[in-house]
Amino acid sequence: MKSLNVGIIGFGTVGTGVWEVLKNFDNIHVKKIAVKNLNKKREIENFDTSLLTDNPFEITENSEIDVVIEVAGGTQPAFDILKSAINHGKHIVTANKELLAKRGSELFSLAKEKNVIILYEAAVAGGIPIIMPIKTILCANKITKIAAILNGTTNYILTKMDEKELSYETALKQAQELGYAETDPTGDVEGFDAAYKIAILSTISFNKKIDINKIYREGITKITSNDIKSARELGYRIKLIAMGQVLDNGKIDVRVHPMLVAKKHLLAKVKNATNSIMLTGNPVGDLVLTGAGAGAKPTASSVVGDLLVLASELETTNSPLPQAVCNHSETAEQILIGDTYNDYYISLTASNNPGAIGMIGTVFGENNINISTIMQKGINHDNTAEIVVITETAKEADVQNALKELLNSPRIKNINNLLRVMN
Ligand SMILES: NC(=O)c1ccc[n+]([C@@H]2O[C@H](COP(=O)([O-])OP(=O)(O)OC[C@H]3O[C@@H](n4cnc5c(N)ncnc54)[C@H](OP(=O)(O)O)[C@@H]3O)[C@@H](O)[C@H]2O)c1
Repeated sequence: MKSLNVGIIGFGTVGTGVWEVLKNFDNIHVKKIAVKNLNKKREIENFDTSLLTDNPFEITENSEIDVVIEVAGGTQPAFDILKSAINHGKHIVTANKELLAKRGSELFSLAKEKNVIILYEAAVAGGIPIIMPIKTILCANKITKIAAILNGTTNYILTKMDEKELSYETALKQAQELGYAETDPTGDVEGFDAAYKIAILSTISFNKKIDINKIYREGITKITSNDIKSARELGYRIKLIAMGQVLDNGKIDVRVHPMLVAKKHLLAKVKNATNSIMLTGNPVGDLVLTGAGAGAKPTASSVVGDLLVLASELETTNSPLPQAVCNHSETAEQILIGDTYNDYYISLTASNNPGAIGMIGTVFGENNINISTIMQKGINHDNTAEIVVITETAKEADVQNALKELLNSPRIKNINNLLRVMN
């Protein structure tokens, strides 16, 4: 394998993981590591602190460096740093999903122009190999669908809400104490992180550029213990699902939201911080890849894997991995959530009067929605009752319309939640 000189931008969870793994490879020489705060205490054995700099451009402009590994995160200054690295002829390995989802298109165009490549296996699902397989061994396939659990934090919280019957708040606190959730958990619990990842996966799977701003996104903050319990009684588990699919008319449906997933479904069995990706392609059929979606070691596995593939290719050719170059000139036509078709779980609070259930059935019927299950869950002390409905497949716009009509009725006190269902 070719000897490579690398510079690392970022020396936090992933950066230090990469450093440790690189000790096993004699052909990779770390020349410099950029951090934000040079004075931060770093507990790393046998580490020569003279490798550190707080000026990332010292790395990007260094003519001795062949590859820049970006594991700092965020969009700025990461975008300017990678732009500088590419302009100076460096290949890039990055774990930065936010940057790729928001500004990847500009970076890939520039990389193509400068004849360098950007590898990003670690940006989606940490240690699970999915980017390189889609770009290489699966390239004989027309991929039409992805359904995935791409965020370990939310999967951990939902697992604990189900198995330990914790409230959302308690499960989040526990996730924070264990280091699975950040102090500000917004990026994970509101579905941003999963949206970045499904944008990247859908772009390479469907060969069309996905606009991150057109991805419908809902997080898990509105999931209550009641929803988890009702889902369990009905034979489902609630999961934050990131999905992308090509419709018969060629339009593309990409979204992130919680779903009731039937217990028999493989994604329902994925627990705690584990990630899982289910992909449907022709001719391969259904594939499922499951593993650690984050953490220093699994993520370093992907970063160093990219780097070693690059070293191996550069040993034999100056134009490595044609599959790794981005060729997506076409922009996807993404559909709005109102135009999607789903099965639904709807929880409502109704006054405990005769005819409430009949009225719900009538309003749904008038909006082209068939009910598959309806159950009333006892009577509350204020003479209201929670009613849970599972529908057959219906159009989202019709369902939203029906819920609006129901809310206008004095019999309906509240729509507690609406979730989509995966059978
Ligand atoms: N953590 C994971 O398991 C995981 C998994 C997959 C992908 N990722 C992605 O990997 C990237 C890094 O995540 P992480 O968890 O390792 O983050 P982290 O622990 O917060 O580390 C970030 C590192 O970047 C450095 N940094 C920040 N701004 C910088 C700047 N302007 N110039 C130079 N260095 C700068 C920080 O310096 P100081 O040390 O001085 O603060 C720190 O060393 C992110 O894009 C993340 O989304 C993470």
